[in-house]
Amino acid sequence: MDTSLRDDPVFAAEALDGLRSDPKWIDSKWLYDAEGSAIFEEITQLPEYYPTRTETRILREEVHALQRVLAPGTVLVELGSGASVKTRILLDGADHLAAYVPVDISARFLEETAHGLRQHYPDLDISPVIADFTGDIDLPPALDGAPKTVFFPGSTIGNLPHDTAAAMLGRIRRWNGIGALILGIDLVKDTGTLVRAYDDSAGVTAAFNLNLLKRMNREIGADFDLSAFTHEARWNTAHSRIEMHLVSQDDQVVPVAGADIHFSRGETIHTENSRKYTRDSLAAIARKGGWEIADFLTDPDRLFAVAILEPSGRSPGPGE
Ligand code: SAH
Ligand code: AVI
Repeated sequence: MDTSLRDDPVFAAEALDGLRSDPKWIDSKWLYDAEGSAIFEEITQLPEYYPTRTETRILREEVHALQRVLAPGTVLVELGSGASVKTRILLDGADHLAAYVPVDISARFLEETAHGLRQHYPDLDISPVIADFTGDIDLPPALDGAPKTVFFPGSTIGNLPHDTAAAMLGRIRRWNGIGALILGIDLVKDTGTLVRAYDDSAGVTAAFNLNLLKRMNREIGADFDLSAFTHEARWNTAHSRIEMHLVSQDDQVVPVAGADIHFSRGETIHTENSRKYTRDSLAAIARKGGWEIADFLTDPDRLFAVAILEPSGRSPGPGE
């Protein structure tokens, strides 16, 4: 038996698949083990990383617009909830929610966050769900008939391929009781601001990216030398996205889950896309999933937007 696959066969199989591809890539969802989630929280505090503070400001200033979709009795479902920091603005502004359901793939971090929230909101039903939000999400059956609003902040939707994001919006649109989607999106802006946000001077984003190699060393029997790879953030105009890469500093062979992976000098592992939107590009993807923009809330510099989406007349097609 190949014991190197024992720890997490799914992670090992997906990582190997991506590392055997040309170009090499690994899905960005694997950036979030407990350590990755903690480093992401540090990123949110960086001076260069404008999205978190800008979205927070919009949510604080527009709490009345948000209350419209958070009527008493509503279940608030959050996708990619992480530390649920911005959520508190919604929870504090809403009256008698039926429940809060944070959904995240980073299991330990999610459980710890839910524990902290229960201390702070003892009267609120907090029911975390560990799941990959790009697949079917099993919400607690007791909440099935209740009205639901989904909160998907941070521009995490921008980390998904276009078709995956549209399909996910379509699946949510078909949920029983779904009423609205509060969606955070990062907006297109000058390249310098974008690249600095993903390649900060303190090296925190680099540590976030390199943690993926550490995670493979820890969990799937890999033996990456972290000093032999560097972090790179690139703007891809054609796809309107920032890309994160890990760049091999030399020709090298790295054992991963029982296989030998060959790298040439300068070759990269593509580890994340972070798509930047306009109102029109958001409207297009929303439409594919069966949604329309009811409100588009933004900051004075138009760095970031919080869109309130409502179901459009047309229901989404199969696979959307
Ligand atoms: N919502 C927070 C955290 C964003 S970080 C904020 O806006 O600051 C992105 C979050 O999405 C992480 O907590 C990560 O674990 C989670 N995530 C990433 N891919 C995921 C997937 N495919 N399924 C579920 N959660 C995912
Ligand atoms: C979670 N997600 C929206 C972040 C982003 O901006 O794409 C992840 C991130 N990657 C590097 N910095 C932050």
